[in-house]
Amino acid sequence: MERKVAPKRNDNKKKQVQFDYMEVYRQLRTNIEYSSFNEDVKVVNITSSNPAEGKSSVASNLATVSIAKYAKVLLIDCDLRKPVQHKIYKVSNKVGVSNLMKDTNEIDIDDERYFHKFKNSAAEGKLYLLTSGKSVPNPQELLSSNRFAELIKRFREKFDFIIIDCPPLNAVSDAVPISHVTDGTIFVVSAKDTDKREAKNALQTLQRNGAKILGCVLTKVDKTTRSYYSYYGSDE
Ligand SMILES: Nc1ncnc2c1ncn2[C@@H]1O[C@H](COP(=O)(O)OP(=O)(O)O)[C@@H](O)[C@H]1O
Ligand SMILES: [Mg+2]
Repeated sequence: MERKVAPKRNDNKKKQVQFDYMEVYRQLRTNIEYSSFNEDVKVVNITSSNPAEGKSSVASNLATVSIAKYAKVLLIDCDLRKPVQHKIYKVSNKVGVSNLMKDTNEIDIDDERYFHKFKNSAAEGKLYLLTSGKSVPNPQELLSSNRFAELIKRFREKFDFIIIDCPPLNAVSDAVPISHVTDGTIFVVSAKDTDKREAKNALQTLQRNGAKILGCVLTKVDKTTRSYYSYYGSDE
């Protein structure tokens, strides 16, 4: 009988595959949507154990892909200590969420002092960015206040999907009160930077305080060996 010879494999050469970043974020969006069968997930917050693990990048990319699915998407920068969303989107951070809470009870999403709307781009009329705003001496107090909870409640009436970028948990616990007003928390782990024990501590802090962890996103994975990003459900 003729023996079949397996085609030669070139295992030594690591294959560089063109990677569709946005496709993985679309998968993330879908996973969030299906992460909770009993409740709609409308407001999510994104945190991690330490700085520079990719939280803000995940938040802004998730916002970008979400406009294809939801009519009005709001991205809020609640890292009041080290905000970056205004830098990512190259907009002013003169006023933002801290000012909105202090200045007014009325929420007018067309008020361009607060909400950046990206004119003449694919995101026009769909993506709204509320930057962190004027720095405040007591971010945690602000984010734990009833007023903040009320603000998010009002946003639920005005937007279809809301993403909140948070500071890391091992530095400050601002993400804890934020997670109390969201439908779920996405936890970012960097394959390159994250210490396992620190991630575990941060996750325990969230769980002890009643946060609903929707899943984890793995960032900064070596692209020659694995996919750039992974999402695990909270059971894993
Ligand atoms: N998936 C990724 N792969 C490689 N670099 C990344 C990735 N996500 C973010 N970065 C880089 O890591 C740095 C920190 O990212 P950022 O999203 O601001 O993190 P965090 O919000 O957790 O502090 C930035 O320079 C960013 O460009
Ligand atoms: Mg950040």
